Amino acid sequence: MKVLITGATGLVGSALTSLLLKEGYSVHYLTTSKEKIKKTEDYTGFYWDPSKNIIDDNCFQGVSTIINLAGATIAQRWSSRNKELILNSRTKSLQTIYSAISKMTDNRKFKLISSSAIGIYPDSLANYYTEQTTEIDHSFLGEVVEAWELEMEKFKQLSCEVAIIRTGLVCSAKGGALPKLTTAVKNYMGAPFGSGSQWQSWIHIEDLAAMFLFLMEKDLIGVYNGVAPNPVTNKKMVNELAKVLNRPLILPNVPEFSLKLLLGEMSYLLLASQRVSCSKIQKKGFHFKYKNICKALESLYPTNTKTDSKQHLDIKEFV
Ligand SMILES: NC(=O)c1ccc[n+]([C@@H]2O[C@H](COP(=O)([O-])OP(=O)(O)OC[C@H]3O[C@@H](n4cnc5c(N)ncnc54)[C@H](OP(=O)(O)O)[C@@H]3O)[C@@H](O)[C@H]2O)c1
Repeated sequence: MKVLITGATGLVGSALTSLLLKEGYSVHYLTTSKEKIKKTEDYTGFYWDPSKNIIDDNCFQGVSTIINLAGATIAQRWSSRNKELILNSRTKSLQTIYSAISKMTDNRKFKLISSSAIGIYPDSLANYYTEQTTEIDHSFLGEVVEAWELEMEKFKQLSCEVAIIRTGLVCSAKGGALPKLTTAVKNYMGAPFGSGSQWQSWIHIEDLAAMFLFLMEKDLIGVYNGVAPNPVTNKKMVNELAKVLNRPLILPNVPEFSLKLLLGEMSYLLLASQRVSCSKIQKKGFHFKYKNICKALESLYPTNTKTDSKQHLDIKEFV
């Protein structure tokens, strides 16, 4: 069976691609970088430029499932230009695929499984969010995710099945937010952000990749939260990381105003709080390999060496 992935060359996409290949699937992928195109028997890249609605239609050959992960990183200064890029890279990617499918004459039906984000849920220390929540966060992130999901829903008009994973903070040693936090802790510069009481609903990268596969193989549709069963506060996350890395936390919390001064509006990424439930996917039979942050971090940083503690540290690198 062949799966088409957008954003396959990124953090989540690489982990998912490895899992799919291991499970015997073939992968077609769309990339915006011609130099990332590879062509092997099981792994074939195709060029696209969603900003111009350009797509190589050969990518759909033999494909029945499309997994959508494409999007410019949100961890860049939220200037007007970057905000436009963050939003458009997501909506236009889906619009480009939509337009290609709608031109097909053979009545093929696809299943779309798309990444979304828990940033859609309102910032709250008290709420516990399930997929039934309808309120949307009044922030740039809320706006992006709402527009992104609206594009996903449109695929139903093409009789496609649609599944959505509202992903939390992806824990990986290879990219995303965690390695930056790790560098800070290793350099004795780790500290919670703001009050540290904000909830971080995280997921181990292996579990997230397994969740995409699970939705595909079980033919599940609808919205699912892509978070582990036990969200933690930012303070707990930093404390657990320090334990795993065998470092003391000697600094006080990084004050909210310093983060706002340094990172501008993007500091929201570090300060917003979303406590999110994964019970819906668990009820469908999905088993998490990593339910607790402690075990997840231990698996990512198995040796507590002090050899790389002299890495350059810049607070702007936190996100
Ligand atoms: N990592 C997290 O903690 C997290 C949390 C919540 C949601 N998510 C979402 O999950 C998805 C995958 O996350 P990730 O961490 O794997 O992201 P990533 O490492 O930044 O990879 C995203 C991929 O999207 C493609 N891309 C970048 N800019 C693009 C543009 N302007 N137009 C079209 N494609 C573009 C790139 O692939 P090519 O260079 O091959 O085109 C890139 O490899 C993203 O949409 C992200 O928002 C991630």
